[in-house]
Amino acid sequence: MAEGRDDSATVQAHYSTDDIASRIVAALRKVMGDEAPLTPDVLAQMDHFHGGGIASTRDLVAALQPEAGERILDIGSGIGGPARWIASTFRCHVTGIDLTPAFCRAAEQLNEVTGLVDQVRIVEGSALAMPFDDGCFDRAYSQNVVMNIADKPGFYREASRVLKPGGLLALSNVAAGPNGPPRFPVPWATSPEASFLSSPAETRDDLVRAGFEILRFEDTSTKTAAVRQALRERLEREGLPPLGFHVFMGERIKAAQINGARNAEEGRTSSVEILVRKPPN
Ligand SMILES: C[S@@+](CC[C@H](N)C(=O)[O-])C[C@H]1O[C@@H](n2cnc3c(N)ncnc32)[C@H](O)[C@@H]1O
Repeated sequence: MAEGRDDSATVQAHYSTDDIASRIVAALRKVMGDEAPLTPDVLAQMDHFHGGGIASTRDLVAALQPEAGERILDIGSGIGGPARWIASTFRCHVTGIDLTPAFCRAAEQLNEVTGLVDQVRIVEGSALAMPFDDGCFDRAYSQNVVMNIADKPGFYREASRVLKPGGLLALSNVAAGPNGPPRFPVPWATSPEASFLSSPAETRDDLVRAGFEILRFEDTSTKTAAVRQALRERLEREGLPPLGFHVFMGERIKAAQINGARNAEEGRTSSVEILVRKPPN
């Protein structure tokens, strides 16, 4: 897991697609009609781009407990679903940073569509060198991002740098499992070269070395495997639903989601939900 390694081009190539926002809005209108309300809750069927969808974002904020008026950072914000939902639900200000230009443009367009441009700011950039001052966020979170990052110590150090003393960081990650390497493609990578999974124990060590206090560290593999298995069985039985990640990622996501489920079911991946704190001064 090389420190300083840069896999930006591979990551961007994996996620980049065209016309993401317009395809999402068109799919919603097709299913719900032209009067479909374009709210963070309705968009959540597609724009929380991680295996657990909005349910997993709810678990994350139950730990993070964002408060009205706070400045929250979403590291690897994707197309902005969690940022919009959290900003509108908790009346806070969320800054999302993401490496993939097409995702950043989609996030900005969906911020406009939902009327949230004043509460959600999107910045294109790397989690490993964020263009933010030291100590400028109250809380931060990151969902299913570190699997794309080889330099995990660098990721955690940078997250700590931009948090205020006493600030909280919530993480929800796919981690390495005990039973061998994952099957590819997976939703975050087409091939092993772009996938970097740490074990739960390595993740804990990296966080402690970055100076964080561990407040909660939960291995959620069993719960996650059950949710993924239900999704896999539905996909295999019924094919892709009208609304899903394939609307912007294309039909290739189906094989990746099925592998994602099999990996969890076979113990080739595990999953963790973590809450850590930057020590107060
Ligand atoms: C599986 S998506 C999750 C998106 C979002 N967190 C969500 O849950 O909806 C992973 C995201 O991480 C972003 N990403 C990967 N490596 C990154 C890095 N070094 N810096 C910033 N973003 C990164 C990708 O561009 C992609 O948007």
